[in-house]
Amino acid sequence: MSQATNQSWGGRFSEPTDAFVARFTASVNFDQRLARQDIQGSIAHATMLARVGVLSEEERDAIITGLTEIQDEIERGEFNWSVPLEDVHMNIEARLTDKIGITGKKLHTGRSRNDQVATDIRLFMRDEIDVIEAELVRLREGMIELADRQADTIMPGFTHLQTAQPVTFGHHLLAWQEMLTRDHERLLDCRKRVNVMPLGAAALAGTTYPIDRHVSAALLGFERPAENSLDAVSDRDFAIEFTSFASILMMHLSRMSEELVLWTSAQFDFIDLPDRFCTGSSIMPQKKNPDVPELVRGKTGRVYGHLMGLLTLMKSQPLAYNKDNQEDKEPLFDAVDTVRDCLKAFADMVPAIEPKKDSMYEAARRGFSTATDLADYLVRKGVAFRDAHEIVGLSVAYGLKTKKDLSEMTLEELQQFSSTIEQDVFDVLTLEGSVAARNHIGGTAPDQVRAAASRAREALASLKGQA
Ligand code: ARG
Repeated sequence: MSQATNQSWGGRFSEPTDAFVARFTASVNFDQRLARQDIQGSIAHATMLARVGVLSEEERDAIITGLTEIQDEIERGEFNWSVPLEDVHMNIEARLTDKIGITGKKLHTGRSRNDQVATDIRLFMRDEIDVIEAELVRLREGMIELADRQADTIMPGFTHLQTAQPVTFGHHLLAWQEMLTRDHERLLDCRKRVNVMPLGAAALAGTTYPIDRHVSAALLGFERPAENSLDAVSDRDFAIEFTSFASILMMHLSRMSEELVLWTSAQFDFIDLPDRFCTGSSIMPQKKNPDVPELVRGKTGRVYGHLMGLLTLMKSQPLAYNKDNQEDKEPLFDAVDTVRDCLKAFADMVPAIEPKKDSMYEAARRGFSTATDLADYLVRKGVAFRDAHEIVGLSVAYGLKTKKDLSEMTLEELQQFSSTIEQDVFDVLTLEGSVAARNHIGGTAPDQVRAAASRAREALASLKGQA
């Protein structure tokens, strides 16, 4: 770090900044991550200034060449970041002036760091949203394909984590997929409000130069310039919106993780995760731990924390820009990194899930999961539902005593509880019969799952890249 003093605003000061205060107020150690977007924004700003005659074409070209070289220096790791220069914006501007002299000092005409930083973060968020969307699409695609392949695989469905009714594994996976569909929609919706340009708001009130904000917006790919300069430099609701998308997504991933962790246990034994997604224990040689889903489940907490942090950061802030807003970056960066990595882990892992079909099937058979089917059967034969419920309850009690599933009882055994029961009862007591009977849109029947998977594929194709 060089010890340069801050030339950008030193004029009205009569003593140098306290060394601790300089460190305390500096953001360069983390906001240098915005360098690429900062340069992108500056090039657009200079181009616009030349277009409206505030800069000459020579000045514009010198600025663009200088900034492009600075970009290279940063990428090569040769840029000397200076804490006394406070932040990414002043570091880059100071370096530009080093390189091209007085013309470098003209870049900041008609703008402020307030509209500059708000623009940088929005450019950054837009880039990251696109990367995150690509991982989300990859995960959704893998999940839909796995669901389609597992449309006939039977497992117990649970309520209260107690065996309830048989479902297909494909149906379960498509339930996850629906959660992700809504997350995807929320992400794209958030992107619309991210993609609005603060540049031109200057410090808070706009600028006296004849700027053309439509030109800079078009150059930067923004949908439009922000409507109100005070709002443009101050609000970070788009960051809150992103972290709330991220929190809901992480909540969903944590639910999936929890199930994966349970399913890999010897007690459930429903799936196998390939070794490359697991780790061992340094003391217990037999262990194979589902670290990836456990860690995703654990990382949910920090993302929720960032949402709370940003909401609280924004709370009660008077218009317009306040230094508080410098605190938006670290939570946002961490939320972006966490969500991207968790999605990548899931997109890699989900297609590799190996269901243990026999074990799932046995578990569905053990829990009297076709009890509702027996009740429905009796109702179809004219028994009132409450009476049917009672008859099946007695049959289950008998099954618990004799250790027999309903489908394993003889006709005579079942008839002890109702003379209405006939030979055809075995069509509904099988797991295959039970799932096949739930044959309506949204139901668990294998044919419905295959149809749902194909609808999901179409819906995903029309949503992706809609940004
Ligand atoms: N580093 C600052 C931030 O992140 C840049 C804007 C500073 N503006 C100011 N007027 N001090 O918010």
